[in-house]
Amino acid sequence: MTDRTAPTAHPIADLFAARWSPRSYDEARAVPDAALAQVLEAARWAASCFNDQPWNYVVARRDKEAEGYAKLFACLSANNQGWAGKAPVLILAVARTTFAHNGNPNRHAGHDLGQASANLAAQAAALGLQAHQMAGFDAAKARETLAIPEGFDPLVMITLGYPGPAEALPEALASRETAPRVRRAVADFTHLGAWGANGAP
Ligand SMILES: Cc1cc2nc3c(=O)[nH]c(=O)nc-3n(C[C@H](O)[C@H](O)[C@H](O)COP(=O)(O)O)c2cc1C
Repeated sequence: MTDRTAPTAHPIADLFAARWSPRSYDEARAVPDAALAQVLEAARWAASCFNDQPWNYVVARRDKEAEGYAKLFACLSANNQGWAGKAPVLILAVARTTFAHNGNPNRHAGHDLGQASANLAAQAAALGLQAHQMAGFDAAKARETLAIPEGFDPLVMITLGYPGPAEALPEALASRETAPRVRRAVADFTHLGAWGANGAP
């Protein structure tokens, strides 16, 4: 299996370095229910504005929620459909856009859903699974086919499963699966004390 551990500039916790977004999944290996429960539990413990917990996940296992899985898969972009169908679990991540306690708009709903999904992905990595988040899907179609009510925003879809070999992918995707992992430098996004005063601690 390709080693995709992040080549970090400083040591970081293993689960962050181990997380990556595969396109090749081991089709034959289902995600055990206990592991799926752990991954969702990690999402559950994310921080959120007013502890509002605006996250919702439509989770479809290919073997257990086949109809839901097919509906979710049909919402993906053609590019993502090119590889995502081998993942044993498809997830639609949906943010509630207003606060539960007063009905006011929650400007941070997307941020908090993202935090929960980051927890989900990190916990997946800790279990030898990997998640791959995708913006490439038809949100209006997802809303319609899954009967997502108003006030809830389908923001991202996620594949989950055990990664498979890069060679199992078509050539164009296989090369992306093994390309070096790159990131902006810390000093590029860190502004020390003032905007534009970029630097690294
Ligand atoms: C909100 C979001 C949307 C993304 N959308 C897609 C997508 O539609 N298709 C895809 O192949 N990857 C998608 N990705 C994955 C990113 O391309 C990937 O996270 C990035 O290249 C860094 O790679 P890594 O996750 O392996 O570190 C998305 C990631 C995020 C967080």
